[in-house]
Amino acid sequence: MTKALKQEGIDLSFMSKIVSTHVPFSREDLIGSLQETQDHYGYLPEEVMDKLAELTSTPVALIYGIATFYSQFHLKPHGKYAIKLCRGTACHVKEAPKISSAISSHLGIKDGETTNDMLFSLESVACLGTCFLSPVMLIGDQYYGKLTPESAIEVLENIAKENKAK
Ligand code: FES
Repeated sequence: MTKALKQEGIDLSFMSKIVSTHVPFSREDLIGSLQETQDHYGYLPEEVMDKLAELTSTPVALIYGIATFYSQFHLKPHGKYAIKLCRGTACHVKEAPKISSAISSHLGIKDGETTNDMLFSLESVACLGTCFLSPVMLIGDQYYGKLTPESAIEVLENIAKENKAK
């Protein structure tokens, strides 16, 4: 749970701040506002998108449409580190499914889920454009290629260790 989320609900006061920085609010401001909102909350909770619609007199359907269209937006809580594991053809034939299974069982989550400690999310994605590295995963802006189930787990263990040391 991010610091912006309270136990009893979501603190929506940030939404007024966001909207006030975009006056007058135009449809062109929507993507930027959703990005700022996601940066703050860690994802786009329903209540937050409803509040944005209310404050900006924008149809809720339009906001949901944008939030679901762009892959950068997440409608569920998302881990600090998003593991984007390629499921493209080149990676698939080099046993990406085995890596996916290894990561899933190591982290205890399935594709599309986030660990309880909010550290990792696992997401299968289409070709990352780095087939020469297949099988490959992307975490943040770092590519990890020529993976084996063992090396993928090692990467995750190192990230978890580094994160603890911070
Ligand atoms: S198929 Fe995996 S990077 Fe292209």
